[in-house]
Amino acid sequence: MSRIVAADLEAIFDGRGHPTVEATIVLESGARGRVGAPSGASTGAHEVRAFPEGGAAEAIRRFPRSVAPRLANLDAADRAGVDAALHAADGTPEFSAIGGNTATAVSVAAATAHAAERGVPLWRVLARPGVERASFPAIVGNCLNGGRHAIGGPDIQEFLAFAEAPRPEDSIRAAVRVHALLGEAIHRRYPALALGRGDEGGWVAPIGNVEALELLSAACAKARDELGTSVHPGIDLAASEFFRDGKYRYRDRTLDPEDQVAFVAQLVDDHGLRYVEDPLDEEAFDDFAAVTRAIGDRAVVVGDDIYCTRVPRLERGIALGSSNSALIKVNQAGTLSDTFAAVDLARAHGLSTVTSHRSGDLPEGWLAHLAVATAARGLKCGVLGGERVAKLNELLRLGRATG
Ligand code: PGA
Ligand code: ZN
Repeated sequence: MSRIVAADLEAIFDGRGHPTVEATIVLESGARGRVGAPSGASTGAHEVRAFPEGGAAEAIRRFPRSVAPRLANLDAADRAGVDAALHAADGTPEFSAIGGNTATAVSVAAATAHAAERGVPLWRVLARPGVERASFPAIVGNCLNGGRHAIGGPDIQEFLAFAEAPRPEDSIRAAVRVHALLGEAIHRRYPALALGRGDEGGWVAPIGNVEALELLSAACAKARDELGTSVHPGIDLAASEFFRDGKYRYRDRTLDPEDQVAFVAQLVDDHGLRYVEDPLDEEAFDDFAAVTRAIGDRAVVVGDDIYCTRVPRLERGIALGSSNSALIKVNQAGTLSDTFAAVDLARAHGLSTVTSHRSGDLPEGWLAHLAVATAARGLKCGVLGGERVAKLNELLRLGRATG
């Protein structure tokens, strides 16, 4: 048995400099796992609460009395047992007492300690039924930031490179190349502009949505020519962020829901998008279904804020045909068990999953293991910046280990 003998929770900073928590789990054998939980900025309304009232500091204050004693002597190999103890310590449906970030950090740290004790890579102890060999996700890499992740950028939150190749080194190289080519293209068009980078490492420039898409598609085409890798443009609209009073309010246009559906389908046509995330408001399950029908199999249509990695919301989306893919963020759900319930439900109904970072993330690589363990269609983790590259490099190592 992988008996837990110590559990600690401490303060660290995420990539935006905001406080978050990291958990350390120590086993009787001396094996340990230390894992931090990331934080979002354009959080979905239906995510579990990241922290109790009072923030990360309050989560840390409560931990020794309300969480640690429940973890003592549990078997770290028994994920259901560890995660049930976290729910019991919390006692609310939204993790508002101990914080979803506490649940995430502890749940993943326990799995990490268990894997270390067995001397196997983390993905092996996380592997879902039927996942016996490592296969590698497409890289969904953020090349240009807008919305809440970049003051002064376009209203669409993320302009992405969707890079698919059997070997991670090829998909990563392609996504990195698109990022570089896009930066060069913006610089050529606006030589006087000081180009910055946003929260997820994508460029920030005061350009419009359509102009950004034109430049992104051209960069993808050039990278395809140069490298021979399948890399195509994608977007995360994070549309809830600019949906107010029943309308989608862009800086240059205001659209009714039907027009938004048509606008997004047109963007897919005009720019050859292969990836479209959150094209509509997080409550618009029927309009989501309309856009998914219009796009068909031309693109991965991904629900993030609409589902928040929560089973009841995903069930509703599956019943209505709202999307053909679900974004998976552990700390939207709380524990790994909660996350896997969503992953397994999506897979059972033919939806793919995309394993995702948060905009305020940490220089840790465990997300790559989660993507491989769940046979994810994509790993959405950015392209540049230490907290993004940590995940790409971990995927690269996994590719090497099995290659
Ligand atoms: P986040 O959003 O800021 O909540 O991490 C990223 C996303 O919308 O995918
Ligand atoms: Zn999103």
